[in-house]
Amino acid sequence: MTHPSSDRVIIFDTTLRDGEQSPGASMNLEEKIRIAQTLEEMGVDVIEAGFPAASNGDFEAVREVGRVVRNATIAGLCRAHRNDIERAAEALKGAARQRIHTFISTSPLHMKYKLQMEPDAVVQAIWDSVSLARNHVEDVEWSAEDGSRTELDFLCRCVETAIKAGATTINIPDTVGYAVPEEYGALIRAVREKTPNSDQAIFSVHCHNDLGLAVANSLAGVAGGARQVECTINGLGERAGNAALEEIVMALRTRADYLPYKTGIKTETITRASRLVSTITGFVVQPNKAIVGANAFAHESGIHQDGMLKHAGTYEIMTPESVGLNRSTLVMGKHSGRAAFRAKLKELGYEDMGDNAVNEAFRRFKDLADRKKDVFDEDIIALIDDEVGRQ
Ligand code: KIV
Ligand code: ZN
Repeated sequence: MTHPSSDRVIIFDTTLRDGEQSPGASMNLEEKIRIAQTLEEMGVDVIEAGFPAASNGDFEAVREVGRVVRNATIAGLCRAHRNDIERAAEALKGAARQRIHTFISTSPLHMKYKLQMEPDAVVQAIWDSVSLARNHVEDVEWSAEDGSRTELDFLCRCVETAIKAGATTINIPDTVGYAVPEEYGALIRAVREKTPNSDQAIFSVHCHNDLGLAVANSLAGVAGGARQVECTINGLGERAGNAALEEIVMALRTRADYLPYKTGIKTETITRASRLVSTITGFVVQPNKAIVGANAFAHESGIHQDGMLKHAGTYEIMTPESVGLNRSTLVMGKHSGRAAFRAKLKELGYEDMGDNAVNEAFRRFKDLADRKKDVFDEDIIALIDDEVGRQ
């Protein structure tokens, strides 16, 4: 069990379950298996492969992913319903490491309108569902849906019940992405401190991105004592998405001085995984997306390019190689400076040009860049060949 005294953070990927709940992101079985295999190669600890009671397709996906993946734990999601739990147990049978993940809402709003259940009945459902899940598997996660909008004393009562019934992981989701980091970190800490048996379970965070705070909230939750983070590749997920795996992992790696926690992720696999999920789902990654966007390691401004040519650390806080990219790119455009232009000429094999020729070519390149949004290597080659021909 990973306790707050440990610096190891479990990475629980839910691309195949919460990610797939993104409108338009559904995947077929073969695609899910390819993603699951990639997640395993990355070093993901837990792969949530689906919601077995939701459909035959989800059942089959959990079963097949469980057959193919041998190292990571496979989780199947269930409501606090007997049938859901039995379907999940059935789907997980062939998996080497099985986890049943059961959830129920705990916030006043959800209990009153969605569940139409009294708080005492919710506590009873937690006891029944977790106990039943424990009859099937040893590894049981319980989630308090809408946990961040749940009254603290009631949340602690629910958590205490889940742990007594045998839950080994307790997840406190920010289901609607409502929390802010300081508040959410304090919530995780408070639940751990106020729940008498909290040291018998690993605490987990699961944050949605409705206010763009999913990653910040997850990291605050870790600082508050959570040792499992639930996330998805490219931040895929319901509405504005879930916390992005690549951002969590690279934040922990890059700022280990401030966030002294480790994951088991081989970060060099991140770009490949991001591209795979984007290709399969058809969800294009925005160019300025942290870590995996096309511009994440690209520099166009002359001042930045000059700095980069002198020392990459001037404008990059992590290396492109650390996320599986070959190198940074100096994008040639109207903001590029002479130093980057010279470096580009060198890269293209024009090393022996005299100063006058370079100056003239640079002037013509700037004219071209004003007219043309993207200046490709071919444009520069054409421009130089023309310049050489003129001399
Ligand atoms: O966002 C959420 O609350 C969930 C739970 C089912 C874990 O996805
Ligand atoms: Zn969710």
